[in-house]
Amino acid sequence: MQIEHQAGKYATISCDLLAYPIFEEEAVDFPQLQVLNEETDGVFQDVLSSGEFKPELHNACRIHKPRGLKAERLLLLGAGKKSQFTLSRLREVAGTAVRNARTAGCRRVAFVPRGEYSPAQTAQVVTEGGLYANYEPDVYKTRDKEGREVDQLVLVAEMAEPAKINSGIRRGVIVGHATNLARILGNEPANILTPSQFAARALQAAQNSALQVEVLEREQMEKLGMNTLLAVSRGSDEPPKLIILRVKGRATGTTYAIVGKGVTFDSGGLSIKPAEKMEDMKADMAGGAAVLAAMTALAQLGPAQDVIGLIPAVENLPGGRATKPGDVVKSYLGKTVEIINTDAEGRLILADSLAYARTLGADHLVDIATLTGACVIALGSVNAGMMGTDEQMIERLRKNISFTGERLWQLPLDEDYRKLIRSEIADFKNVGNRWGGAITAAKFLQEFVEETPWVHLDIAGVDLDHDGRPFAAKGATGFGVRTLVELLS
Ligand code: BES
Ligand code: ZN
Ligand code: MN
Repeated sequence: MQIEHQAGKYATISCDLLAYPIFEEEAVDFPQLQVLNEETDGVFQDVLSSGEFKPELHNACRIHKPRGLKAERLLLLGAGKKSQFTLSRLREVAGTAVRNARTAGCRRVAFVPRGEYSPAQTAQVVTEGGLYANYEPDVYKTRDKEGREVDQLVLVAEMAEPAKINSGIRRGVIVGHATNLARILGNEPANILTPSQFAARALQAAQNSALQVEVLEREQMEKLGMNTLLAVSRGSDEPPKLIILRVKGRATGTTYAIVGKGVTFDSGGLSIKPAEKMEDMKADMAGGAAVLAAMTALAQLGPAQDVIGLIPAVENLPGGRATKPGDVVKSYLGKTVEIINTDAEGRLILADSLAYARTLGADHLVDIATLTGACVIALGSVNAGMMGTDEQMIERLRKNISFTGERLWQLPLDEDYRKLIRSEIADFKNVGNRWGGAITAAKFLQEFVEETPWVHLDIAGVDLDHDGRPFAAKGATGFGVRTLVELLS
């Protein structure tokens, strides 16, 4: 999809569809729409006073051959309450415009942004929303493909700041494509996206970019003593890969590491999962996908500080050599772990990866993982869980939510939870009891980050969207890409 900026009046833009968001307050207080109404020779008033269209968020009404406009169609879009509008909502509404256009077979779409935001941010979120909406996971369909893509998105802005708008579009293109890369990876079936293929995609993504890629093989990990990581991949014939990505920052002195869980399929191992919805576990690498995608964006944007991305990519299966409940392994850091439940595998691969990130020089750590069902029980599919020891970073992450739209809710990490993961025969066990499972998982990770400032994002509930949204196809959401890019750029 091509994104362009056009200054001036929307009435004279020729396009298949012109999308105009309307706030709920405007429907009540009509004069706010007067200019609009005059230009369209009363079309707005006709529609709004008919009551057929209520501008609740994501409601839409398509009008053919609107009077006064050069556009073939006018799309009135509900933008919800003006008092609740955010840049995140603007991104969504732009997405709804594009998806609505797709269903109508429109190829050239003009969008009139609303809200009082900076030209650069406005352009960025509209671009991101448009790209997000235009993605459809249909690569494996040989028939009934929708094949209705929007080719051109025209940002109609009367603001006379083309340089800022264009830099916003550029940023939006980078972040939008990165988000879709994470979604593409998350939607790949596990027979395609094996750990080896994950590594191959990382190498591919880094071609002709400032991104450096290194892949640690099983033998190297054995030498380094990454036994909690290796314990997870033992039951699979697919070799494990530790994907390491690097990008240089504008300033030196600080190094962030972002570590993403890359379990390409989580059967549970010998602690096998029930069949119901097990197929969703192909997306148990969503954290790793977010890390790879964010790194591709950061390589283009130039992060503030040096960033290392680590993706432990493994398959968790119950094979003849699989780790058994009760097995004890020594981690890369030296602490020993009794593996009580082989389905608590994410924390095992993250433990070694986080510790190794510190060896590589990282002094700030962020991990992102589809880690616990308990987090889904606690927060549903609206917020991701956020835990950690770096309150400053947590505050920065929280401040970005209204822009990224990726909601994060902090859970506690009191010392009292620590005793729940003490083992009788090793230093720790890999599970607590039934309660507070998102927290005990994080407490386990904390043993391997030790004093290094760290934030953990549990995205188990938000990595997949089962219902579909007005602005997005069902499936992988790419959650975390925008958050990581915003934090580090
Ligand atoms: N990948 C799962 C967590 C998960 C559950 C992600 C639902 C997405 C949706 C993780 O590896 C897992 O199996 N966790 C166990 C931990 C338990 C054995 C302590 C869980 O949450 O049940
Ligand atoms: Zn898992
Ligand atoms: Mn599991």
